[in-house]
Amino acid sequence: MITIRGAVVTGFEFAACEEVNERFGVHATSSRGAIVFDLPNAPALSEILTLRSVDSLYAVIDRRRFEAICDKDQDTALQSITALLVDLDWASGLQALENVTQQSLPGGHQRAIDALNAYRTTSAKYSGDKNGLPSYRVSCYRPGPRELHSFGSMDAARALGNVINNCFGWPPKMDDFDIEVVLRINNSDISVELALTKKSLHCRNIVEFGRTTLRSTICHGLLRMAAPRPGETIVDPLCGSGSIPLEAATGWSELFVLGGDNYSVALERSAANLQAIYSSQTRPSSSVCSDEQTSSPYCSFDEPSSIATNQAKTSPTSQLRSPVAFVQWDSTKLPLGNESVDCIVTDLPFGKRLRTDNRRLYPALLLEWARVLKKDGRVAALTHDRRNMSTILMRCKPIGRLWNIKATHNINVGGLICIAYLLTKR
Ligand SMILES: C[S@@+](CC[C@H](N)C(=O)[O-])C[C@H]1O[C@@H](n2cnc3c(N)ncnc32)[C@H](O)[C@@H]1O
Repeated sequence: MITIRGAVVTGFEFAACEEVNERFGVHATSSRGAIVFDLPNAPALSEILTLRSVDSLYAVIDRRRFEAICDKDQDTALQSITALLVDLDWASGLQALENVTQQSLPGGHQRAIDALNAYRTTSAKYSGDKNGLPSYRVSCYRPGPRELHSFGSMDAARALGNVINNCFGWPPKMDDFDIEVVLRINNSDISVELALTKKSLHCRNIVEFGRTTLRSTICHGLLRMAAPRPGETIVDPLCGSGSIPLEAATGWSELFVLGGDNYSVALERSAANLQAIYSSQTRPSSSVCSDEQTSSPYCSFDEPSSIATNQAKTSPTSQLRSPVAFVQWDSTKLPLGNESVDCIVTDLPFGKRLRTDNRRLYPALLLEWARVLKKDGRVAALTHDRRNMSTILMRCKPIGRLWNIKATHNINVGGLICIAYLLTKR
């Protein structure tokens, strides 16, 4: 067994736990922006790369509460961290990395285990053959309060990096490294992990980005709120570059998916993104989409952005499982019949970014969506403009009485706390 940690969109932890349970039949626990679950450490572990609600994955090689790092001087605290190295379950971690990537580490993981055993007995710096050793980087994240520690994240990453170099002889490298060791420190809790994903798994559907293109993992969480069923029609009436319809059509089978927008440039992007998926189905993917590139092999990061801002041209890694089409329309006057749609899943204009007047737009949208949705039809809608949305739903009687609010979730979208509503038509 190996413990896997997944970094997920804050607010959509429940969606990731649900997906892990559906896919692997195991229970995942969640904390803010993360899920943790156990799986057998076998070649089939590579299946985790097909999870759609998770941004990045890590093999946990040690987790412990470690009071020795709080309220101690810097040297004592860092020594406690570096002393951990010999206790870590490197064998399981490196094997998990090989199982997930389906590739042997340069030199094979046994070479690292032999070096570790030698270091455990002598504590002497690695003096063996350095040819063909894997390169590595250490990254340190400290999400909790920092004043408890006398050291900075970079100090901790550098200290652990030095003992790794002493023990294994691995050369440090700032990018294009073979192994990323992640040190997470939250108060006195320490977790040491090996990164199993080099690029975020949200980089899968989109090659043409707009200013408000949503991450595929956020789209997936919204879609899960609506719980599409085979045979249903799913519509995103404000689809922008098509991120929600494309996630629906690649993540679910037997749906009919429709996206529309009133902005022709957005529709051109949607068409280009759809075309890129068609094209990638006929050739191998060579996508490049790294979240953070820094100039040091020892890094400390804040939470990664949740909006898919990476503008690099990538090849989609998804396959279409349901038909999808895009149409230019005004979402307040949809060219769709009464009670013809099962689900609306969408990302509403936030107001500031797109300069929309949401006090007029949101009521018009909610009225029109009530017309096209079947009875008990669902809406999963994300907005940053919670004040307008809640005022309309709670205080505007002609509109409020059309909808039941089934659930709300606060979702972190690139640092903005947005709200995702699940509504059902009365
Ligand atoms: C927040 S963005 C959607 C972004 C999209 N989820 C994506 O990933 O690209 C909202 C979209 O609503 C569109 N929009 C605003 N008012 C509209 C209307 N009345 N009818 C159709 N589309 C509209 C805007 O052009 C914009 O593309």
